[in-house]
Amino acid sequence: MSDLGRSAPVRSYARIALSIGVAALATQLVGCGKKAAVDEELAAKLVQPVAKIELAAAPAAAPGSRKGEDIFKAVCAACHESGAAGAPKAGDKAAWGPRIAQGFEGLVKSAAAGKNAMPPRGGAADLTDDELKRAVAFLANKAGASFKAPE
Ligand code: HEC
Repeated sequence: MSDLGRSAPVRSYARIALSIGVAALATQLVGCGKKAAVDEELAAKLVQPVAKIELAAAPAAAPGSRKGEDIFKAVCAACHESGAAGAPKAGDKAAWGPRIAQGFEGLVKSAAAGKNAMPPRGGAADLTDDELKRAVAFLANKAGASFKAPE
């Protein structure tokens, strides 16, 4: 019984939505006959620059070529921005000093393997070695190191 009571208003909403849709379609069809060719040309011109930008940007985000700063923002910042889980904060020279002293290779090694509350690769298992190095260099350099990561 209660099923019937519920389905009746749903059906009438659907009918209203459908008639709005049909009305919208009809308006479009009317406009279409007049200047369809011009609109198509214009649309192609308007879309072109956007498509070009997207093509150019795509390789930059491809796995393996992500930048240290982008990886930091996407993965590492969750802990290293706020100091969550006892993580040394980005730019905190006192916290990073003794860690930086162990050298770039040492830092990369512990970031790859994980250390106490720090999960391996900061939890991002898909980071390549070079990407991890870029992120470690970005993080350490913010606190005064001058490590050079692979391009
Ligand atoms: C879930 C939280 C978390 C995330 C995400 C995280 N870290 Fe950490 N990280 C930590 C903690 C906690 C420590 C301190 C570990 C310790 O010394 O006990 C740490 C320490 C480090 C250290 C110092 C290691 C050492 O030997 O002293 C490096 C380098 C590092 N993180 C890099 C990164 C990078 C790069 C990322 C992103 C790819 C990242 N972390 C993401 C929590 C995190």
